[in-house]
Amino acid sequence: MCGIIGYVGSKETDVTSILLEGLSKLEYRGYDSAGIAVLGSEGNIKLHRRAGKIANLVATVEEDVTPELSTLGIGHTRWATHGRPNDINAHPHPDCTGGLTVVHNGIIENYAELRIELQQEGHSFQSDTDSEVLAHLIERAYFGDANHDLVLAVRTALQRVTGSYSIGVVSNEHPDLLVGARCAGPLIVGIGEGEQFLASDIPALLKHTRRVLILEEGEVAVLRPEGVKLMTLYGTEIEREPTTIDWDTEAAEKGGYPYFVIKEINEQPDALRRALTGRIRDGKLRLPEMERIEHSGLLKNIQRIIVVACGTSFHAGMIAKYAIEKWARIPVETITAAEFRYCDPIVGPDTLCIAVTQSGETADTLVGIRQAREHGAPVIAVTNIVSSAITRLADAVLYLQAGPEIGVVATKSFVSSVAVLYLLGLYLGEQRGRITAEQMSEFTGALEILPEQIQRILDHANSEHDSIEPLAKRMADTNSMIFIGRGVGYPTALEGALKLKEISYIHAEGFPAGELKHGSIALLDEHTPLVAVATASHVYEKVVSNIQEVRARDAHIIVVATEGDERIRQHADDILYVPATMEVFSPLLASVPLQLFAYHVAVARGCNVDQPRNLAKSVTVE
Ligand code: AGP
Repeated sequence: MCGIIGYVGSKETDVTSILLEGLSKLEYRGYDSAGIAVLGSEGNIKLHRRAGKIANLVATVEEDVTPELSTLGIGHTRWATHGRPNDINAHPHPDCTGGLTVVHNGIIENYAELRIELQQEGHSFQSDTDSEVLAHLIERAYFGDANHDLVLAVRTALQRVTGSYSIGVVSNEHPDLLVGARCAGPLIVGIGEGEQFLASDIPALLKHTRRVLILEEGEVAVLRPEGVKLMTLYGTEIEREPTTIDWDTEAAEKGGYPYFVIKEINEQPDALRRALTGRIRDGKLRLPEMERIEHSGLLKNIQRIIVVACGTSFHAGMIAKYAIEKWARIPVETITAAEFRYCDPIVGPDTLCIAVTQSGETADTLVGIRQAREHGAPVIAVTNIVSSAITRLADAVLYLQAGPEIGVVATKSFVSSVAVLYLLGLYLGEQRGRITAEQMSEFTGALEILPEQIQRILDHANSEHDSIEPLAKRMADTNSMIFIGRGVGYPTALEGALKLKEISYIHAEGFPAGELKHGSIALLDEHTPLVAVATASHVYEKVVSNIQEVRARDAHIIVVATEGDERIRQHADDILYVPATMEVFSPLLASVPLQLFAYHVAVARGCNVDQPRNLAKSVTVE
């Protein structure tokens, strides 16, 4: 997902450094080129754009100019959607005059027709991106009906655009004006003293301010040194109180760990506590976020539930399926959002749709949920990002409260998503009279000790007794690994496989253990290790017999097992023990050694653990 940064101030300052530093805080979003545009002392816009990492851009800036102070600038990290990742396709994009430049995150769906229209009017395009269309659209309005009113020109131009965007715009004729607009994709204003900031995400602002205004979709922000105005695309002014961010800078930095991913794996006990905080008290469940949807009557006639999600969030949804069906006795289907949106889904007022999306911006999930709403389905969103797009499509929002997750791969947000989904399952079960007070006390009690149980796994992994890192180093040259599990162990196996492949680039596949004999067992030999999730469960014996089938084919067997299970030793080459918990909660424990295993394999292989190749933190395009 692209990253935007912008600055406008009353006094001349080192805007270039502010922009470059802001972009470095957005690198985790995934990108393949970067650029900045700064108002120069001669009243021109100085543009620097480079393919590759921000270091390339810094080198170009340092080569090119002596440090120059300014009052205005914008910057961008681009994750290519239209046009190759090269210098000319990098943002910011200038208009024909070079005096007006734009940065954009998202997709302009009608860019092709707009480009033809503009070219026919004499506009010349430099790049083959969709984003550049915005620069020329705004230029046409600016030098046309808007009569050099930049805000009006931006609003006029965006009314012609279909698609998703968040943008920043500057003009050399307005040294004290920065315009931002959001249709999709996050955009945040940072409020300073005599200076204002624009960014795609909070970490880019934290050094300067913790007072922010989060733009909603269809809103325009007018930033001037003395203050910020919000309005709709049609000019209606909007009043909104700033939010104060309590994430300290530390929270958005690595906190002494070598990578964000390992920091966030170690943050899971705290993240889990925050997910449960205020929602469990004295053995009772409290979900005030559900009051409105409950009182609306939307949940009264629910006959089935569909969980719509992608990737790791989809795996969280699969685990939730087992839990919700067990506690609420409502049939639950889980489907990936990209499939859901194109399968003409059978949904209606009797179908509760649960959207699980840590970013709240995943395009497929948003479109799928929009469709569900059009069919009258009530929607509950489970997300980590306040005011993210999914929250505007939901009748109730359950926040993960996991804090910033900077690593591209989901770790603490996964554990928190599963925990929040457990709470929702308990809520639905209780509302349907299927969970007694005693059972609720038992379940919430088991949930409340999970953070310290995860902490025990992490403490062991961070001690000299750790067996995961040595095992990972031994496995680092493996070409392929198979993961298996049954019941809730199956989505746990899927998530373990996804973690391994997305940060170490080793091929890994998860299967239902019972499926092995129907074909996949052909994959297993002495070169293809097997990871089995064999924690205590009602299907434990079945998993053990699957392990024996594989062992007979000389595969190296790694097992995630429950502490105290001595029997498993005869069937496994390596055992990763986790504390005992109720079967339904076991994924929250079994996932942790699998995350650590994937992390250490990736480090051993020299992979870019925080920003794996080809991946983005939030997939805001199809
Ligand atoms: C996370 O490890 C994955 N990289 C990815 O599959 C992610 O879970 C997926 O893109 C969904 O993201 P979301 O939760 O923000 O919707």
